[in-house]
Amino acid sequence: MPATNPLPESVLISESHLQNRIHELGAQIATDYENQELVLLGVLRGSVIFFADLARAIFSAQLENPVKEVRLRFEFVQLMSYQDSTKPSAVELIRGGTDYLEQRHILIVEDIVDTGHTLKFLHEHLWTLKPKTIKVCTLLDKPSQRQVPVAIDYTGFEIPDTFVVGYGLDYAQQYRNLPYIAVLKLI
Ligand code: PRP
Repeated sequence: MPATNPLPESVLISESHLQNRIHELGAQIATDYENQELVLLGVLRGSVIFFADLARAIFSAQLENPVKEVRLRFEFVQLMSYQDSTKPSAVELIRGGTDYLEQRHILIVEDIVDTGHTLKFLHEHLWTLKPKTIKVCTLLDKPSQRQVPVAIDYTGFEIPDTFVVGYGLDYAQQYRNLPYIAVLKLI
């Protein structure tokens, strides 16, 4: 019998707060990329739910104002972070990021920026593929944990230094399907 996972302690960001903010982000992105083609680049796995809602929020903004047409393409990368004895944090590309990104506008979609190592690595990797521009949209930002500086163009919410799950974020691969962000009490 598998061990029982800890229960989420409290809701940090409710479903309605998430959806309202994502609607605002979608409108802002639709304005900024009006009449352009944009590659939404999701970072697996944590960003998938945010990615799906953000993509539809960009379309909703177009419905409200048809001038703001954004031609969206979807791409995904998967990265793995690990600790070893020689570096504080190392990141490795598992899949994605092809020549197809050359001369395109890329918007990286993340669920959370914590230390910044993942984003820094991905940024450096993507520039080798010669895109036109790279911007970053993260649902959550935990600035108190930053170890390397990273530029973020669109942020959903800044959060305190607590362990959060839900809406794509996991603990031991669980809780990604919660429709809200919850604080997890680790015993
Ligand atoms: C999480 C998250 C970010 C990264 C941020 O991914 O999705 O990609 O950590 O952390 P950092 O700023 O400290 O680098 P994780 O490695 O947990 O994988 P997952 O997306 O599959 O959950």
